[in-house]
Amino acid sequence: MKVSVIGAGNVGATLAQRIAEADIADVVLLDIAQGLAKGKGLDLSDARSIIGYDRDIMGTGDYNDIADSKIVVVTAGLARQPGMTREDLVNKNTATIKKIIACICEKAPQAIIIMVTNPLDILTNIALKISGFNPKKVIGMGGVLDSSRFANLIAERLNASPSEIEAMVIGAHGQSMLPLPRFTKVAGKKLTELLSDAECAELSKDTVNRGAQIVECLGNGSAYYAPSAAAFSMVQAILKDEKKLLSACVYLNGEYGIKDVCIGVPIILGAFGVEQIFELELTKQETENLVSSANAVKSAVAALS
Ligand code: LAC
Repeated sequence: MKVSVIGAGNVGATLAQRIAEADIADVVLLDIAQGLAKGKGLDLSDARSIIGYDRDIMGTGDYNDIADSKIVVVTAGLARQPGMTREDLVNKNTATIKKIIACICEKAPQAIIIMVTNPLDILTNIALKISGFNPKKVIGMGGVLDSSRFANLIAERLNASPSEIEAMVIGAHGQSMLPLPRFTKVAGKKLTELLSDAECAELSKDTVNRGAQIVECLGNGSAYYAPSAAAFSMVQAILKDEKKLLSACVYLNGEYGIKDVCIGVPIILGAFGVEQIFELELTKQETENLVSSANAVKSAVAALS
């Protein structure tokens, strides 16, 4: 089993490391900066005897090396800098993604594509359109990261173990994301039974702003430990056919009253990609917020085409 990671920056290289260390697939790390990818590939493979993983890991600049990948994860592109929104990256990263998707179509047409590059939802839509792949096989990583941030903030607030928290965040991976306290559980109990509406709203707001908070702290570039962990959990769900419930950016065809756009919703992820889409019983307000999040993505994609 082979997983290719496009982009050998912080997210891509850390994801390659996570996959290698889990010993679940051979890894190809590809970057147009060939030396960067090759160097990181050599460095990661030098750690094999210490950490104890056997799979092959290589860095390359050549798309022929991604042939037969079960999954291709796209992390390439510019990262946010302080003061920028994810949407500010759209022009430059769209051009990059178009080229990459064309290469994936040519060299790994059977692969499942996981999109990570920002603006995540817009670029997942572009990847689906350009590839013409089955929509079950083009999935954006946004909801896993946002849900994990929500879970972490809840864990800190309640002094609970993060592993006992099942958090749910849907919508776009941007300012319009929708943390859902009613669908978030702490040791099996609804968050709304443990915290007041005001406390839930505050944690939701902090979740929306977490990416920007990290960008401000770093001063150069954006988060990568949690983003790579989120992408890793999706890779693992597919390779191990976990049929895992998680939130991801996927193509909707009428679910939630939304059609012909990719946006973050709960899905079951397994060996074939998106195996099911869940329709949560949202309130009228939540549905309106999700629809408006989806409409904003749709308009942005239309403006690009
Ligand atoms: C973030 C970037 C990766 O949320 O979108 O940190």
